[in-house]
Amino acid sequence: MTTVEFRTPSALAEAERWTAHNYHPLPVVVAEAEGAWVTDVDGRRFLDMLAGYSALNFGHRHPALIGAAHAQLDRLTLTSRAFVHDQFAAFCGGLAELCGKDLVLPMNTGAEAVETAIKVARKWGYQVKGVPDGQAEIIVADGNFHGRTTTIVSFSTDPEARADFGPYTPGFVIVPYGDAEALAAAITPNTVAVLVEPIQGEGGVLIPPAGYFTAVREACTANNVLLIADEIQSGLGRTGKTFAIDHENVIPDMYVLGKALGGGIVPVSAVAANRDVLGVLKPGEHGSTFGGNALACAVGSAVVGLLRTGEFQERSARLGERLEAGLSALIGQGLVGVRCRGLWAGVDIDPALMTGREACERLAERGVLAKDTHGSTIRLAPPLVITEEDLDHAVAQLAAVLAA
Ligand SMILES: Cc1ncc(COP(=O)(O)O)c(C=O)c1O
Repeated sequence: MTTVEFRTPSALAEAERWTAHNYHPLPVVVAEAEGAWVTDVDGRRFLDMLAGYSALNFGHRHPALIGAAHAQLDRLTLTSRAFVHDQFAAFCGGLAELCGKDLVLPMNTGAEAVETAIKVARKWGYQVKGVPDGQAEIIVADGNFHGRTTTIVSFSTDPEARADFGPYTPGFVIVPYGDAEALAAAITPNTVAVLVEPIQGEGGVLIPPAGYFTAVREACTANNVLLIADEIQSGLGRTGKTFAIDHENVIPDMYVLGKALGGGIVPVSAVAANRDVLGVLKPGEHGSTFGGNALACAVGSAVVGLLRTGEFQERSARLGERLEAGLSALIGQGLVGVRCRGLWAGVDIDPALMTGREACERLAERGVLAKDTHGSTIRLAPPLVITEEDLDHAVAQLAAVLAA
């Protein structure tokens, strides 16, 4: 008789041995992936219902994106911004057009793009709005997640993200999420911007009440305050439209983008805004060695190309209805709440049954990958290329976990 030796336990132990424990991953060690499916080091297949927190909106290794990356790897990868390369204008121009804005500033990670937006808003506040030096205020929402730099955690309301990382950066005012009146009341002559997620992903896929962004837009316009939409997780097709804020036909002054912009291949983030806003930056005031590198721009251009057709947005909206119907049928069968927008769902499991972590572990045992957030809430954000059959399969596995 032959004994089969599974590689997963030793791979997990090695990872635990050599890395800081700043994450608590599910015990799955992925080796390969294609589309909506990943394969682990032991050959087991899992349906990816997280998609890298929306970094893999187009699925694993989308042929158009992999093709663009391969072609670029054979020509040029990096110049730094000391020189211009031949992929730069095409990417920035394409993305600016997709956003309906004049200019784009490319960075790498989401947090860097948020930092960029904060710096631009402050500088705009001093130079254009006339806020007294050092007095700029930015309004943010309770329960936000914008990244993990020292400035960004300064205005987090999550103790895990914030505690023990002070002293904190001043200049942020926190208001309840989804309450436009509270937000408007917090505006002062020194307010330069409102920074908000159109849907709070990390918060549990929290969708603000209808009309919220229309009212926030009005308050910003009336008080000469910039509206910054952090669409890092919600944007680029995830919710059935190019941007989640499109659901209210609201146009922010700045879009902050990341995750899916890199096609699941390279980190690519960006801020898009008009010249009167982004134009405040002068050479030397902001930048990044890798921001806007040739490989990133080639992949980013291919991502913009996929989004231009509207095919993924339409698919997300259509399959999202199917996901919502499937999940809603489980309310009372182990679920106590479901929030869906496009292919993005926050699923509240009855806390009497299990935690979100336990649910994700049991889903993984059944070959479905998802991620918990706070308490008994899990998030589903499958690649937009997922098939209807696979979507139904994921919902069936969740039903089985709840029934067990
Ligand atoms: C809305 C939002 N903003 C910012 C970030 C930070 O992005 P990154 O992890 O690439 O720094 C995230 C990441 O989850 C996010 O969801």
